[in-house]
Amino acid sequence: MQEIEIKTIKDFSLSLIENIKKLEIENLGKDAAINEWQIPVIIRYGKFIVAQLKKSSKIIGACEILREWKETRIAFIYSFYICSGYRAQGIGKKLLKDTLDILRDENFEQVELTVDAENKAAVKLYERFGFEAKEVRLDEYGAGINRTLMVLKF
Ligand SMILES: CC(C)(COP(=O)(O)OP(=O)(O)OC[C@H]1O[C@@H](n2cnc3c(N)ncnc32)[C@H](O)[C@@H]1OP(=O)(O)O)[C@@H](O)C(=O)NCCC(=O)NCCS
Repeated sequence: MQEIEIKTIKDFSLSLIENIKKLEIENLGKDAAINEWQIPVIIRYGKFIVAQLKKSSKIIGACEILREWKETRIAFIYSFYICSGYRAQGIGKKLLKDTLDILRDENFEQVELTVDAENKAAVKLYERFGFEAKEVRLDEYGAGINRTLMVLKF
């Protein structure tokens, strides 16, 4: 496996945003993908962590995080993906492990995310790190789009 590094994006160029916009559509589909109106907002006001090839800096995975407004020790993983072609090689595990380490170091106490219960690969990955299903949020992202809330307490 090529060497992978996990990096928090701190500043950005137009080409970086265009690249992420493309990866979002390819890996999440056009309904779930965020675009040039949201990507910079998460970079500036949330946290945008990527997995990239060390040699070329090619981005091969992303984890986008928000902070809960009232309970500021709660982080919400808004989006998480590994680019197709790089899946099932342990990169999702590495990105999630390093992300959780970063959040723990920054004194977060709880991490939440939502997932489609049918997304077995994602559910298994989250369970492996100790996330537990807490509730089902009906119609969360539109009619019939139900999401399972999963929570990890540090
Ligand atoms: C879910 C996803 C992030 C997993 O990333 P990945 O790099 O392929 O995962 P890894 O190779 O690190 O495997 C991690 C664990 O996930 C589970 N997993 C991965 N692929 C799986 C599959 N096809 N079926 C079942 N479980 C799977 C396994 O438990 C695996 O651990 P193990 O092999 O030690 O048992 C990736 O499949 C993906 O990006 N999917 C599309 C976007 C998406 O659904 N994101 C989640 C939105 S909430």
